[in-house]
Amino acid sequence: MDLGDWSHGVRVEAAERGFLAWLRDGTSVLLRPVGADDKMRIEEGLSNMSPRSIYYRFGRQMKRLSDRELQYFTEVDQVQHIAWCAVDPADPSETGLGIGRLIREPDRPARAEFALTVIDPYHGLGLGTVLLATLKTLAELQEIEILRACVLAENHAVIAWFQRLGARLVDSDCQVILDWDLRDGSPDTCSAQRFQALSQQIRQVLGERPTRWIEEVEPL
Ligand SMILES: CC(C)(COP(=O)(O)OP(=O)(O)OC[C@H]1O[C@@H](n2cnc3c(N)ncnc32)[C@H](O)[C@@H]1OP(=O)(O)O)[C@@H](O)C(=O)NCCC(=O)NCCS
Repeated sequence: MDLGDWSHGVRVEAAERGFLAWLRDGTSVLLRPVGADDKMRIEEGLSNMSPRSIYYRFGRQMKRLSDRELQYFTEVDQVQHIAWCAVDPADPSETGLGIGRLIREPDRPARAEFALTVIDPYHGLGLGTVLLATLKTLAELQEIEILRACVLAENHAVIAWFQRLGARLVDSDCQVILDWDLRDGSPDTCSAQRFQALSQQIRQVLGERPTRWIEEVEPL
């Protein structure tokens, strides 16, 4: 497949500190690393999520995050805790549209738990796919081999989606644990092949730049 082509209905292009993606409906979003000054964006993002989405993401209802949670979600080193967000590039205040993170297990750093959130008005446009493809690309750049998801058992659509991409069920109770071993290669599903093509596009536009950005960041 020509990586310059549209894949998954999404097109990507390098930007100064991240990349631009055009979603299925033509809306553009900027993907970039999360920083300490994104606290307000995360708070705003929460106010643009339905109670159901909040429950699926956090396992409980909440109106706002505590200062401690906001610090945890934004003051990340991009090595142990990797977090990228999607923002509106047309808005000078860069409204937060979605966020994804990978947190390495302390005693097994090649395995990282991941989580994704997209604000409800942007659901179904491919932004979740772009965020997940970004996380997968960053994981591969930083030698993470297994992505682990902990998903509420009633979140059927997300469990089925991760399975279409190659994640395998590890445990199933009120929470379902899925492991996605990136060394296994893509399954032969249409979804996985399109996802792989998108991930390759992202890898191509990012190159080695994320590693350089980590080196440039002052230690927290
Ligand atoms: C999960 C989430 C990030 C998906 O974001 P999105 O931008 O809507 O996702 P996309 O449009 O890229 O779709 C991703 C895949 O999920 C499928 N999907 C998304 N919503 C769906 C739904 N309601 N029913 C069935 N499938 C659905 C899409 O068909 C697509 O699969 P495909 O590529 O095989 O066709 C978003 O719904 C969300 O933030 N949910 C609340 C938090 C959450 O559940 N997080 C996951 C656990 S950490």
